[in-house]
Amino acid sequence: MSLEDKRILLIVSGGIAAYKCLDLIRRLKERGARTRCVLTPAGAEFVTALSLAAISEDKVYTDLFSLTDENEMGHIRLSREADLVVVAPATADLLARMAAGMANDLATTVLLATDKPVLAAPAMNVRMWDHPATRGNLQVLGQRGIQFVGPGEGDMACGEWGLGRMAEPHEIVAAIEAHFARDGLLRGFRALVTSGATWEPIDPVRVIANRSSGRQGYAIADALARAGAATTLVSGPTHVPVPPDVHLIRIETAQEMLDACRAVFPVDVAVCAAAVGDWRVAGPAAQKLKKETGPTPTLTLEENPDVLASLAAAGNNRPSLVIGFAAETENVVDNAIRKRRRKGCDWILANDVSPSSGTFGGELTTIHLVTEAGVEDWPRMTKVAVAERLTAEIAGALGRPPARGA
Ligand code: CTP
Repeated sequence: MSLEDKRILLIVSGGIAAYKCLDLIRRLKERGARTRCVLTPAGAEFVTALSLAAISEDKVYTDLFSLTDENEMGHIRLSREADLVVVAPATADLLARMAAGMANDLATTVLLATDKPVLAAPAMNVRMWDHPATRGNLQVLGQRGIQFVGPGEGDMACGEWGLGRMAEPHEIVAAIEAHFARDGLLRGFRALVTSGATWEPIDPVRVIANRSSGRQGYAIADALARAGAATTLVSGPTHVPVPPDVHLIRIETAQEMLDACRAVFPVDVAVCAAAVGDWRVAGPAAQKLKKETGPTPTLTLEENPDVLASLAAAGNNRPSLVIGFAAETENVVDNAIRKRRRKGCDWILANDVSPSSGTFGGELTTIHLVTEAGVEDWPRMTKVAVAERLTAEIAGALGRPPARGA
């Protein structure tokens, strides 16, 4: 995709991956984008302002209190004269300062003052990435609409192995392209996403639930909404922050999920990412079951409605595109091919959820897209990246928005 005339403000903070920015700028230039750089003092320990200036063919901004810089450009103008702000590498420290709304150097001042979308490429040691402080900061930033690319998994400069390597320049370029490509791509369409676990009551205080985090469905709703689709998210109980511009309907049981979905119809695309409980307790107790008032209870289960299959069989109301997930622990693709037929949906995103895969509750997943046409294997990627790619595929399949009556 061409990035002709797109203006990127690249904030380079202090990580070993800062050297990759030179390649990033070169790739952006090849696609016609103009990059202007802000370099933090820590970033300057890893890459020089001179090399950034040479490759970007522009002045590099480093100092908040530079009279010359302020006269020439001013940090507010700097933050506004871009189509997209990219932070690469985004260190744990910079993300923390962004989350706190600090403005104690040029980079954070620009980030606080900008009214433009921000894409961050985190880069840090795996333990820093896993630390609850970083998790919290990422959650806050995600809630504010900051987009992320990466990090990837692999060897680190510190000798450890794990998640935290900055996305490669070509991946960052792909995320930038996806950002611009998706701008308004689904405007005029209506989307429905199911997400999270369901809670089936045993009595007023106990439930049958499952370990689904809801992250994948929330990321998909976020990506669809950012692409311009009027998006409703029907979600079981989760702790994932609600994405901006998404209409959230909270439910607990499978039956409530199905009723909520039907109430949202008609939609153009339905993505069922929820981990719906297959069974519920037949006749849950009206009062809390007590140990002293009877023997250990035996639970009789009955089958829940299949939300995905019901949406796919909705007759005239059927969305043009009905998409499900297949959580499998063995024979992943074969089971998914059968599941697609059984459920009557158009696409299935199959993924391995065996404990060794770390998919359930984890950050990374490996998807096999099963359609009528065959199977497409996607590389291992974050759930956010899956959401972006799926959104692009949906936009490709739906084409132009339908004409709707008032
Ligand atoms: N699904 C649904 N309603 C159900 C069960 C599943 O909407 N009652 C949807 C899920 O959201 C997912 C797809 O069906 O998109 C497949 O879910 P999965 O748990 O893999 O399949 P099941 O139908 O539960 O089959 P099994 O557990 O036997 O593999």
